[in-house]
Amino acid sequence: MGIIDRFPLRSNPAHVAPVTSKLLIDALSGRPHARVPCWFMRQAGRYLPEYQRLRAEYPEFLRFCYTPDATVEAALQPLRRFRFDAAILFSDILVVPDALGQEVRFVEGEGPVLAPLRDLGAIERLNPARAEEHLAPVFESLRRLAVALPENVALIGFAGAPWTLAHYMVEGRGGSDGGTLRQWAWREPDTFARLIALLVDTIADYLGRQVEAGAEVLQLFDSWAGGLPESQFRRWVIEPTRAIVERIRGVAPQVPIIGFPRGAGALYVDYVKETGVDAVSLDQAVPSGWAARTLQPLCAVQGHLDNQLLVAGGSELSFETWRILDAFSAGSHVFNLGHGILPETPPEHVSEVVELVRDWRKA
Ligand code: CP3
Repeated sequence: MGIIDRFPLRSNPAHVAPVTSKLLIDALSGRPHARVPCWFMRQAGRYLPEYQRLRAEYPEFLRFCYTPDATVEAALQPLRRFRFDAAILFSDILVVPDALGQEVRFVEGEGPVLAPLRDLGAIERLNPARAEEHLAPVFESLRRLAVALPENVALIGFAGAPWTLAHYMVEGRGGSDGGTLRQWAWREPDTFARLIALLVDTIADYLGRQVEAGAEVLQLFDSWAGGLPESQFRRWVIEPTRAIVERIRGVAPQVPIIGFPRGAGALYVDYVKETGVDAVSLDQAVPSGWAARTLQPLCAVQGHLDNQLLVAGGSELSFETWRILDAFSAGSHVFNLGHGILPETPPEHVSEVVELVRDWRKA
């Protein structure tokens, strides 16, 4: 029996699309595929010296994000070094609050800083009507990338999910425990729901336009989905994600959607069952065996090598790569990290893992 026969169709087969030349799309759609596809979150960025040089030409990160010459080059850089099966649009999740008119800055050594949004008046001052025009350079980047990529490399578009965008918009930064956000969601759910509804609409439109511009796969990053009580997770993570997935299915039923509710723990199960995503990206804390038994029969899984092990390297890096490949060998799996590549990652460790994944059980 060849390896192709060993990847069974999942129980939730996607929305009729023909077999493609792209391994990633086949794996995400639950179709048979010859080997495990591989790409890494944050595969473009500061761990690459060529990115550092390009970035040095643009003092402001957002300016960089809105310059297609720069973003196309940044997205292609990792593909020249590593045999990844996908390119991801080079942009940032925070272009959406920026496009809505909130003040967003990236402070060197500190990360993103936003003018915090704390009341109904501030929600009403957001301006979704200007978002599409503001984001035009993102669509231009995708159009250029779609032409530039080799035919077996898939193009991934993305957005931050509503809860994670709300985290940055309300707290004014990442990193905090999200206390202001969670209190607001408990105290004034109806007001807070208006922010989430506005984000659902904006994100669904934004992703629909990304598909028109050439994105073949979409990922929703919910980096701050962890740590919520179940009722709040349902209302602010699952429900808005389900609404976005439904909207995208309406305009682009063939495009696989990957959800990444980082830190969701046992609630990964309800997330998969209720949002309708085609694939779920696992953080490194999810037990692989549990995920293979519980999630993989429902959808494709992506993940979940510890990004700190990718920095550390050594024999543990190969053992862990093989362990993860083995754990998910009975169903559809996309090899990735549990979270984005860290800036201190040695590029040689990346090529080592990519080649291990490509060679795995190739015989
Ligand atoms: O290859 C890729 O994946 C690049 C595209 C990409 C970036 N950000 C570029 C970026 C993607 C998919 C993102 C997503 C993103 N941005 C997320 C979700 C994923 C995650 O990591 O949880 C989040 C939470 C952000 C917000 C953000 N942007 C933070 C917290 C930071 C600062 C911390 C950091 O890693 O620098 C950024 C800046 C950022 N986004 C950089 C890059 C390459 C570094 C900017 C620089 O060049 O100085």
